[in-house]
Amino acid sequence: MIKEGSNVELSIIVAVDQNNLIGSDSGGLPWKPVNRDKEHFRKYVKGKALLLGRKTFEEMNGWFNDDHTPFVLTRNNQYEAGNNVIALNTIEEIINFADEEGIKEIVVCGGAEIYKIALKYANLIILTVIDDCFDANDASKYFASPEVLYSMGFKIFKKEKFPKSEKNYVSMSILWLRSD
Ligand SMILES: NC(=O)c1ccc[n+]([C@@H]2O[C@H](COP(=O)([O-])OP(=O)(O)OC[C@H]3O[C@@H](n4cnc5c(N)ncnc54)[C@H](OP(=O)(O)O)[C@@H]3O)[C@@H](O)[C@H]2O)c1
Repeated sequence: MIKEGSNVELSIIVAVDQNNLIGSDSGGLPWKPVNRDKEHFRKYVKGKALLLGRKTFEEMNGWFNDDHTPFVLTRNNQYEAGNNVIALNTIEEIINFADEEGIKEIVVCGGAEIYKIALKYANLIILTVIDDCFDANDASKYFASPEVLYSMGFKIFKKEKFPKSEKNYVSMSILWLRSD
């Protein structure tokens, strides 16, 4: 249970294709990196506390800087996440721990299982929508559709469009959604 009066806000940062595809069971993004999205991701998460599922954490290992506080969600009590990484078994424990540390925002960085768990606690969703459809298979992982997000009370308050360019092989938008 989250302690009463918690001051921690949960933000979700995620990139989807036109079918809300985000990844797969075997790991990796379905698309080759989009520079504009990478820049946006790095800028938003700089210096922040991050929440990752164990699979995404392992996929991104080596990427974190000293200024990040990564939290990892795993069912494995013995999980050795490494120095300066806090591995816990429930999202509520992570939120309570962060609150005690005076952390005001945790940025949820995926993957699909962790987004599902985090959605009910999230106040902000920063959604990159890539203007293309990528290959899906039986193991594909998806983020909640816009309809589901709207039904949960999320509303778009900012939309940025980024056209295809020399640096970016595909156009994309960033939607900022907040729930009341
Ligand atoms: N497009 C994007 O923005 C984006 C962002 C991030 C990731 N991804 C992609 O998403 C895919 C990975 O997503 P995923 O869903 O397979 O894995 P994930 O969410 O990264 O991690 C799943 C793991 O989290 C732990 N977990 C899940 N539910 C839990 C619970 N209720 N309590 C405690 N621990 C729990 C388990 O770890 P244990 O097995 O250790 O118990 C589980 O195996 C990859 O393809 C990745 O590239 C995409």
